[in-house]
Amino acid sequence: MDIKRKLIIDTDPGIDDAIAIAIALFSEKLDVKLITTVAGNVSVDLVTENALRLLTFFDKKVPVAKGAGEPLIQKFLDAKDIHGATGMDGYEFGEPDRSNLLEEHAVNAMRRVILESETPVTIAAIGPLTNIALLLKMYPEVKSNIDEIVFMGGSITRGNKTVMGEFNIATDPEAAKIVFDSGINLLMAGLDMGLKALVHPEDSEKIKILGKTGDMMYSLFQKYRGGSFKTGLKMYDSCAVAYLLCPEMYELTDTFIDVETSSSLTLGCTIVDLKGYLGKPANAKVCTDINQDMFKKWFISSIEKCI
Ligand code: RIB
Ligand code: CA
Repeated sequence: MDIKRKLIIDTDPGIDDAIAIAIALFSEKLDVKLITTVAGNVSVDLVTENALRLLTFFDKKVPVAKGAGEPLIQKFLDAKDIHGATGMDGYEFGEPDRSNLLEEHAVNAMRRVILESETPVTIAAIGPLTNIALLLKMYPEVKSNIDEIVFMGGSITRGNKTVMGEFNIATDPEAAKIVFDSGINLLMAGLDMGLKALVHPEDSEKIKILGKTGDMMYSLFQKYRGGSFKTGLKMYDSCAVAYLLCPEMYELTDTFIDVETSSSLTLGCTIVDLKGYLGKPANAKVCTDINQDMFKKWFISSIEKCI
């Protein structure tokens, strides 16, 4: 029997996060050991509530640990214009079961889970990288038991928070710099993949009929402003989980990545040196293209398991 991949999800739910978390929770290939929350789409209090609401909705027992309430240096600016004031507008989840919520801070919980694990742990980072950076700075000893950090963030082209800054990286570029310089195996699923990882109306209709789960997701899609219901909703965070479960949908390349942390014009811009101009060794595997048909088939079949 295949051993499940041990996974920590660091997240800022967030409607696209919610879908990605659901897919991970119901995957037979992943063992979600911990969900940590970080300020991003909305406040850390709200994203923590949302993580608990999701687990209650799906009746899943996974420890949740609340993390950083603001970026390391930059002023915190949320994305409630995209996800709504609650961060998961569109569906009434009701009061969550708070027994999943740990007293521990996310960084301490991540350290404990990683050091206690007999096999290396993978981190799926689908929000700003603040918690991950704090973890690596406070507890560098965890590096030897982290298999890979698979992050949704950055861009090979332009941004969606600023001209050149993708939201997760541009929210906390200093944290991203710490992660990019860490020497840990990195997989970057950037904005460019999310722009092609679309849920079209015909897909939403297939999802809508999937019982309680379909009703919830379809309702969230009505409020989600990452793209549009008619022309395609961008499933950014599912791109990170898609790498874990169906990497063959991607074109991948090993290259050097870095992040701008000083220019006011391009703060948070990810430098993806595909042509090797900088002459630096590769520090990440980057998704450079996605097979959209494969994504669509994988996405629908994954959602069908979330019941
Ligand atoms: O740029 C997209 C990313 O920012 C996604 O993780 C989305 O949830 C938001 O956090
Ligand atoms: Ca997110």
